Amino acid sequence: MNRTTTPATPWSRLRLRQSPHLRDLVAETTFTAANLIQPIFIVGGITGAETIPGLGDNARLGGHAALEVIARDLETGVRHFLLFCVPAEKGPGALRFDYAKRAVGLIKEQFGNTLNLWVDICLCSATNHGHCAMLDARGRIDLGNTLDALAAMSLAVVGAGADGVSPSDMMDGRTAHIRAALDAAGHTNTPIMSYSTKFASQFYGPFRGAADSAPQFGDRRHYQIDVRSRRDAIASSVRCANEGADLLMVKPGMTSIDLIAPITEATGLSVGAYQVSGEYASLLALHGQGLITDFDAALLETWHVFRRAGAAYIITYGARRAWAIGL
Ligand code: PBG
Repeated sequence: MNRTTTPATPWSRLRLRQSPHLRDLVAETTFTAANLIQPIFIVGGITGAETIPGLGDNARLGGHAALEVIARDLETGVRHFLLFCVPAEKGPGALRFDYAKRAVGLIKEQFGNTLNLWVDICLCSATNHGHCAMLDARGRIDLGNTLDALAAMSLAVVGAGADGVSPSDMMDGRTAHIRAALDAAGHTNTPIMSYSTKFASQFYGPFRGAADSAPQFGDRRHYQIDVRSRRDAIASSVRCANEGADLLMVKPGMTSIDLIAPITEATGLSVGAYQVSGEYASLLALHGQGLITDFDAALLETWHVFRRAGAAYIITYGARRAWAIGL
């Protein structure tokens, strides 16, 4: 049979995929560097930059090295930074949070309002045992002392100029406790970006080396969410919303995309995704083995998936690549 025409169909899914112009015309997700947040690690007692295994150009930075990195990132269009402060020494001294005040003060003095500085609020880098809470003599979570310490850290960094705080500990009541402390100190306009749906995960590995925050015994499964529990995952974000969180988050992002839309719907708040260290490192590792040829294209693909799933913002170790990617 001599077939000169393809069979007529009432519709085509191919017609609008055939050229970049047509694909761009109907693309349903877009975003710019404005939607991205770049993590930064400032480590007390070091100078220069120390490599973080697996995380590419992300490094543990001394104060002045951090200023240089941030200056370069600002040139690429990054405006939001999530700061992790790591003290030189752990224990009771660290729990005064002077190291965090110094790090925040240094950055805000240099860059003022050209950037928006979020600070991760957690105790795991400061405690000797590496857990995200204060523990009692029997090793159980001491919730009262934990909430006071988290509020104290929040007040310390906001007093030093932080633009927002981001509690990542997963304790009951932390958002309400931090909100009340900030309000009482007159910081009523300081937003809280809560790690509201945060799972216990194997994908935090590279981070724990960077933040020197691996638990010295046990794991975090008695305070982070069980990956099997969808209702708990949604309810945890609802809890933070009810306690006054301004922004919510799912984490690890790539394994939690199914939760972004239901949480947005349940709370009416903007929900972001944290592409965590192990997720980012896995893309880099594939690239390193030649199994992903175009790393930036792969990264952009994951960001679009976050967006397609409804993410309002994305925390990613590759935010500083946005300019090179063409965003
Ligand atoms: C601290 C904290 C962690 C991350 C962000 N804040 C580690 C953890 O909970 O063990 C993980 C970030 C990443 O892996 O990129 N509580």
